[in-house]
Amino acid sequence: MNKAKRTAVIAGNWKMNMTPSQTTAFMNELAPKIAGLNGCKVVLCVPFVDIAAAVEATKNTNIEIGAENVHMEAKGAYTGEISGEMLKECGVKYVIVGHSERRQYFGETDVTVNGRLKAGLANGLKVILCVGETLTEREQGVTFETVSRQTKVALGGVSADDMKNIIIAYEPVWAIGTGKTATADQADEVCGAIRGVLASLYGEATAEATTIQYGGSMNAKNAAELLAKEHIDGGLIGGASLKSDDFTVIVNAAQ
Ligand code: 13P
Repeated sequence: MNKAKRTAVIAGNWKMNMTPSQTTAFMNELAPKIAGLNGCKVVLCVPFVDIAAAVEATKNTNIEIGAENVHMEAKGAYTGEISGEMLKECGVKYVIVGHSERRQYFGETDVTVNGRLKAGLANGLKVILCVGETLTEREQGVTFETVSRQTKVALGGVSADDMKNIIIAYEPVWAIGTGKTATADQADEVCGAIRGVLASLYGEATAEATTIQYGGSMNAKNAAELLAKEHIDGGLIGGASLKSDDFTVIVNAAQ
């Protein structure tokens, strides 16, 4: 199997941006620009409070909606958290887990990421698992060890069959929101290494079928070069997913 047989997925991660009314306006602007572009799946992961507006505005479009996190427990005394069942009922199809900002600012660990990932799967959501090294880890030469550990721990208890519903996003922390993109070769090298980890866990066929995205300052200018690489099957886009023209260029680059 080769890259052409994997599903390309271009996903936006809005982080803490946009209100519900801004969400509606954005989706109404984006939908006609990418209508008919069916060479990749298009997902926008939005803040919890924007989900209802996003789902409503993207009915009958090729845009699917995701959330930016999910709690590991099904329900209970977890003030401020959101369950997989809640997301599912709101029309969410995807959820991001393990984003480096969650790890950096909110104390998430490989173990909590594993719990959240399994909660997403248990509720029938497709899960985008983020992994990536910090600048210090890259400089110390432990990039592969870092992403390998993050991937293995997050996928603990996940079967080969479940992998149909998992996307891995390689996001080097030093490239997020900095304007510093990994070179296409650097990104491809680590995405290839992650595919190797998947092969060791699940076998070649599953590894070859899994969508691996690159994220970190992907934009309208560099998307085509990154997406042309053997192991890069899509993008997880922050800043450029807030501008419908830039996001459209990236979706086009994935056709
Ligand atoms: P930027 O595209 O803004 O660098 O963000 C990437 C990211 O963190 C996506 O999850």
